Order: sequence, then structure tokens, then C-alpha cells
Amino acid sequence: MIKRFVFGKAFDTEAVKDKPEACKEKIPYFENAETSSFSLEMDSSDIVYGLGENVRGINKRGFIYESFCTDQPEHNENKSSLYAAHNFFIVSGNKKNFGAFFDTPGKVTFDIGASSYSTLKVSIENTGYEIYIIENPTLELIIKEFRNLIGQSYIPPRWAFGIGQSRWGYTCEEDIRKIAENYRKNKLPLDMVYLDIDYMEKFKDFTVNKKSFPDFKNFVSDMKKNSVRIVPIIDAGIKMEDGFELYEEGKENNYFCKDKDGNDFIVGVWPGKCCLPDFLNPEAREWFGMKYKFLTDQGIEGFWNDMNEPALFYSEKNLEKVFDQVKEMKKLNIGLKESFALKDTILNLANNTDDYKSFYHCKDGKKIRHYDVHNLYGYNMTRAASEAFEKISPEKRILIFSRSSCIGSHRYGGIWMGDNMSRWQHILLNLKMLPSLNMCGFLYTGADLGGFGENTTEDLLLRWYALGIFMPLLRNHSALGTREQEPFRFKNSIEKFRNILNLRYRLLPYIYSEFMKAALQGTMYASPLGFIWSKDEDARRTEDQIMIGESIMIAPVYEQNATGRHIYLPEEMKLVKFKDSESYEEKIIPAGHNFVHIALDEVAVFIRKGHILPLADNAESVEKIDFENLTTISFAEKGARYELYTDDGECRNPSLRENLRSISV
Ligand code: GLC
Repeated sequence: MIKRFVFGKAFDTEAVKDKPEACKEKIPYFENAETSSFSLEMDSSDIVYGLGENVRGINKRGFIYESFCTDQPEHNENKSSLYAAHNFFIVSGNKKNFGAFFDTPGKVTFDIGASSYSTLKVSIENTGYEIYIIENPTLELIIKEFRNLIGQSYIPPRWAFGIGQSRWGYTCEEDIRKIAENYRKNKLPLDMVYLDIDYMEKFKDFTVNKKSFPDFKNFVSDMKKNSVRIVPIIDAGIKMEDGFELYEEGKENNYFCKDKDGNDFIVGVWPGKCCLPDFLNPEAREWFGMKYKFLTDQGIEGFWNDMNEPALFYSEKNLEKVFDQVKEMKKLNIGLKESFALKDTILNLANNTDDYKSFYHCKDGKKIRHYDVHNLYGYNMTRAASEAFEKISPEKRILIFSRSSCIGSHRYGGIWMGDNMSRWQHILLNLKMLPSLNMCGFLYTGADLGGFGENTTEDLLLRWYALGIFMPLLRNHSALGTREQEPFRFKNSIEKFRNILNLRYRLLPYIYSEFMKAALQGTMYASPLGFIWSKDEDARRTEDQIMIGESIMIAPVYEQNATGRHIYLPEEMKLVKFKDSESYEEKIIPAGHNFVHIALDEVAVFIRKGHILPLADNAESVEKIDFENLTTISFAEKGARYELYTDDGECRNPSLRENLRSISV
């Protein structure tokens, strides 16, 4: 059952399209002693699930989190927000089991047992907001009801479940062709190569650098003949340059965010001085969205939207102030205090709160301060693209995913987990994010495998892939200046990489099937064990194993030099260790605590009793997978049935009922 509570006059985030009648009664569970602040007492059995893309555990208890979309490459334990704002959590314990969604576009702080381990306190900065409370006996039903409330998750084309290779640093056609050639030559499967900002002319959106891509259309088509899609990046900031059509049109039509005096607000991003499209204005959204046509007309079928928190390197106004301050500082004898002040002055230039407070959107003729609706920016950039794609490509799905997001944008696109680092702890962080994101409606998601920042190593990358092959969005991506990390760079281990990457394509019918069922039924693709074994205390407290779909549990190794790991099995399961494409080892493992050896070149999955894992043959791309001829591995002495979902991989309104087929053993 869902109850909606309205406080003050809320800005409509459009996260919920069909709103239930507002309740007049007092909000349950929470004490609302102070304005815009809600607290509840937790008992020791309570676990708090949710908050989507954020740091720390599957169980969020014990820390303060913030919903304020932030360009945050430092995914450390001390950070309180990443690129997204996902204000939904579930409190699950012996005495209570409910979900709560705080529908507000501004900043929210969730103190989940940090100030006091037994108190959960939510503080909302805006004065108008809505809260939804969802009560149901099971976690699965709470999720279903919430997801039904916020609407169906985005579904990408099926080829987007293939492997993607990316790097900030590929600059020209030649670079990309070589990447694809190396994949094919080394018999590594591949479906996408991503274009980062260097494909553009001076980092200007919807341009292609003619020198480095002399015949872009032909290049895109050539790559597609080889089953490789090209997926370009689009950034939020538009370069201020006289004569640049996009800028001129935006300026003329008042499509940019404004400062308090009504002038275009100027910020610094990759191209230098930029203006920010006002994605809250429906006209500006439509205008920006239709610009993607420049690229779809050249054969592009997928995009990634970036820097849309929005990330600000500086605002023009603040930059001037900093120059003045630094000039003043030149006169000083820089000691302890001054050197800290100097450092702070420079560091505060980027993503500065005062800047977010000093520009405005225009919606229905009203001026809206950006800061109060900050979390809707990336959301509406994704929406701009997605709504345009419905017109540009009414029959076929187009790939779109974003860095920043907010609940509501899960209907328009996927997200990636942002700029992680080549650190072992980030494998675990990405694992934990996956189910938390699913709860909030984000199903098409994945991490930068191998790590974006810093230098990766062969073993780290192999272990990361062993998790990544289960993520719907599978992409190896790295930053400029870091070690090159395409799998074929590791000459002595190509076979190991080949086996892991091939396994993704063998598993793809299952992964796609489970993804589509989750999207069409509002269920979880990746679940914490506590969602399934809710009475099993050890399962509830497991933070490093998750279920993928109905049949398998995964428990990736995330420690350097480990030869295996501790695994908790809530029930007897069949361990399957995939080593190469042709063979695997299987063994029944009893319920309870076990140590399982998993070598660097192995991927382990645990099949639940009474379940089937369908497998395809190896294929070099998704198009080449034979979905008709599948084999199975099962743990079903008494027989079992699996409902496999298959469709043409591109239709926009797929039907669950019409596309299921039974596999029995
Ligand atoms: C941002 C993105 C990253 C991209 C880089 C350059 O940091 O998050 O993925 O490579 O910008 O465009």
C-alpha cells in the first residue's frame, strides 16, 4: 500500500506521473518534530537498503549521505554523495518493513545511524516536498509497488548488453579502427567503441572533428559492418563561441540558464567558457534533444551524456574573484594560515555551492533558483535526449546513459557509476551499488571496469571483469594519462581475458532475459541476499554477494592476490567454475559458511536449487548469438523450468507475455 504525504508547495519533479490522493493523517514511522526533518528510531534488527548510487554498504546504516548530484571522482568512504540523487530507502527489520521516497529536487541529508546508531534522520532543505510511504509484507512487494509508482525503467537495445571499449584519449578514426581490429584479431568479443570528448571540434557538442574523422558517416557504417557500434559522448556545457550555431541558437532563444540579472550564466567546462542549456524548460529540452539528430543521421545509435550534475570548473564571476584574491595574496608572507587559504580559494572554484545558488531556470514563465532543483539537471538532459529519440527513431530503441541522475530519469536512460579508480575496494563498491540502484529503478547500469582514474593492473582488471560480465552495462573505460587497459594490452593473459569476455556472450540470453523481466515487472535484476532469505540473519548481513536474476548468485573476488574467498550460502547450491569457453567444473556446496577457491582466470557462479542457467555458444558480437540453440546447466534433480525472455532486441514496447519461452530439464 502506498501513502502520499504533501508538505508545503512542492516543485513537481515528475518522478511520479500518476500521483495517488494525498493523505491527511500523520506520516507513519517518522517523528516530524522540526521543520523539514523526519526521524525514526531503529532497532538492532533494522537494515536500511537503498539510496541508489552512493558510497558504502548495501546496508546504509552507520553514515551520513547527501542527495546533491556531485562531480565526485574520489569515491572514498568519507564522501557523502556521488553523481546522483536517489531518495528512496527501505527500513527492514523485525518490527517494521517499509519503503520511503522523499520526492524533492533539492538537497536532502540522510543521517542513517551516524550521529546515533539507533536514529535515522532525514533533513530536507526545500520547504515544499512530498513523501511516499510504502508498506508491504515483503521487500520484493515494496520494490514492485515503488517501481510501479515511478514508472517502467529504461530498456536499451539488446546490442548494448555487449562489451564496450572506451578510453579518454582515443582521438581519431585510426585509433578506433585499431581498437576494434585488435579485439577481432585477438578473438575478443566486442559490440561498442565509445568516443570521448576528443572526437568533437574543440569539445563542441554535436560537432565532429573533420581532420580526425574525415568521413564520419562512412566510418560509422564500416564499423557497424563489423558489428561494432560507435557511441559518442555529449556534454552538458555548450561552448560560447560566436558563429557556433548551437550557441547562437541557444542565446537567441533564451535556452540557457541565467544569472540573477537575466544574462546567460557563464561557466567553465572542457571547451572553456560555456553556457548551460536550461533543461527544465520544455522548449529548450526539445531543442537540445533534436540536436542528437546530427549524429543519428550519420548512423549513430547510442550516446552517453556527461558532466551533467552540472559539473562546473568555475563560474566566470568566481574566477575573477579568485584572480583578485590571489593578486592580493602576492603581497603576503605566505605561512600556515595563508597557504591553506590559497589552496582553499583555488579548490573552491569548482562545483561551488554559491555558483549553484546564483543561476536560474525558467519554467512556465517562472524563475527557479538552480540550487533548489539541482538534482533535476542530469535527469532532464537524459529526458531531452530520450524524448527526441522517440521522434527520431520511433521503431527502434536507442542507447542512452548518463552520469548524473535522479529518480524519474530511470525511465529515460541508464547510468554509469561515474569516475571510479583502479582500486580493489572499488570492485566491492560497484557490487554494492548494483542492487541499490535497481531498487531505485536504474537497471541499465555498470561501472568503469578496470577503474577510470589511476593505473590498473592485469589481476585487478581480470577480477573486475568477473563482476562486470554480470552488469547490464559492460564497459572498460579509463582516463587520459593512465595505463592503457584494453584487454589485448596484457599480452601474456589474452586467453584469460578471452575466456571471461566470451562468458559474457554465453550468459547473455540469461542476462538479457532477467533484465527484461525486471524492467517489465518492476522487480530486481540484482538482489541483496536479504531480499530472498529475509529470515536468515547471515544472508541479511551479507554485503559482498548478490543474486543475479532468479537462478544464480555471484561472489566475486575483490582482494589482491586472493586465491578464493569466504562465501555464505543460505541454502545448498551448485558451484560452477568457468575456466574456458568449452569446459567448466561443478560441485555441490552445502549451506553455511564456506571457503571457495577461485583462481584469477576463473568465474564462479552458484546455481540455486531447482533452477536452470541457460547458455549460448561463444559469439563475437550480440548479433551473432544464436538465441535458438541454448544449452543449460542446472541444479535440478527433480527437474526445473526456466522462462526465457527473447525478442528482436530493438522494438520499443516489448511485451513480456509474448516473448517468453519455457526451457525445462
Ligand atoms: C568525465 C567523465 C569521464 C570522461 C571524462 C572526459 O570525467 O566522467 O568518463 O572520460 O569526463 O570526457
